[in-house]
Amino acid sequence: MTTRAVFLTEPYGAYKHTAVPREDSELTHVGPGTPCGEYLRRFWQPVCLTSELTDLPMAIKIMGEDLVVFRDFSGQIGCLELHCPHRGTSLEFGLVSEKGIRCCYHGWLFDTDGVILETPGEPVDSTMKDRLCHGAYPTHEFKGLVFAYLGPTELKPAFPVYDTYHWPGTRIVANRREYNDCNWLQIKENSMDPVHLSFLHTRTAGTQFTDEFGVLAELEFMDTPVGMTYIATRRVDENVWLRMGEFMLPNIHQFGANMENGRVEHPRQPPIMCQWAVPIDDVQTVKFSYRIIPDGIDDIPSIVDFGQINDRPYEERQRIPGDYDALVGQRDITVHDLEHLATSDVGVILLRNLLRKHIRNLLEGQEPVPAPTDDNGLTRTNASDTVMHIPAAPTEPEDVILLRETGLKVAQQYINNPQQLPKSTD
Ligand code: FES
Ligand SMILES: [Fe+2]
Repeated sequence: MTTRAVFLTEPYGAYKHTAVPREDSELTHVGPGTPCGEYLRRFWQPVCLTSELTDLPMAIKIMGEDLVVFRDFSGQIGCLELHCPHRGTSLEFGLVSEKGIRCCYHGWLFDTDGVILETPGEPVDSTMKDRLCHGAYPTHEFKGLVFAYLGPTELKPAFPVYDTYHWPGTRIVANRREYNDCNWLQIKENSMDPVHLSFLHTRTAGTQFTDEFGVLAELEFMDTPVGMTYIATRRVDENVWLRMGEFMLPNIHQFGANMENGRVEHPRQPPIMCQWAVPIDDVQTVKFSYRIIPDGIDDIPSIVDFGQINDRPYEERQRIPGDYDALVGQRDITVHDLEHLATSDVGVILLRNLLRKHIRNLLEGQEPVPAPTDDNGLTRTNASDTVMHIPAAPTEPEDVILLRETGLKVAQQYINNPQQLPKSTD
């Protein structure tokens, strides 16, 4: 039972703020058996970069579970419980082997699926290895990222391939691992809070994005087959710039270039990033992403990385805070009952409602339905930037209506008639 904080109505009233409400555990706790943790476990989650798998195993923690990932010398990737089932030694000190990983302590050998291949210290007639299995999760390697599925084996979904992995004229590259010292939900809420682009990234903390982001957009929100999208429409002289950012269930989002300025007319452009916020535990999160890089350039501008991790001196972070500082600054787990949500928080409210609905559906026994795929096996998404030549309406109120109607109409077209993309090859 949580208690809402007092809505203070008088100056010098902090003394009345003695109630300390708890966080919203239904949406924020991710350990095994928690409602949100069980929901997130129904989906493939990135757990490391392919490049991080060397001849040494790697200890990781995902949703409160200590695990070890490794690629054995036959090329198979394992994701096993970290602690050896014999007497608990950490397999991060194990020996990656031709087949599986061998515990350093007494030499038990585990295959990538958890089957115990050898127990060399036991009598030859021991049946221990035939009776016992070590805990393992299925893995899937895709374009520089290693994914694992931490849910019930019999419910393992197909690995989703999003259309942005195959967008003509682009390629995807796995990005660095980024740590945030906060709960996973506030990272995803940030993706449905386009108003912060006009403040944190433009007006209040130096210009991290183009000046045009400083103009408050006309905002609409819409459900999509994979989650929800915001539709931010701005006037830039004779152009209408339409930006869509999309939250994709359960913990992914895609967003467009922060160097866009809406000044040059162009058709729908794909997002620059597809990003997961994978909980390490309730108060730490690791972000993995694919950059979606247009052909002809080496990489997207590094400004997109500004302020995403704790990599700057404290004073600089105070003077020019980035997303990391704003999000971690909300506390390690934001306490919803201490917030005062306002008009600009519509996206955050809708996102929480959407997640809560799916989490509760699962609690009631309704398994998540995979997002639809097209004839080529691709899952369609909608994040994009489009700049159209549409001169302003005669008056400002009429132009606001024009912007909103244009945004909704074009967004609906994208959702209803996705661009035809080549067949998925991998
Ligand atoms: S603790 Fe791993 S083999 Fe003994
Ligand atoms: Fe941001």
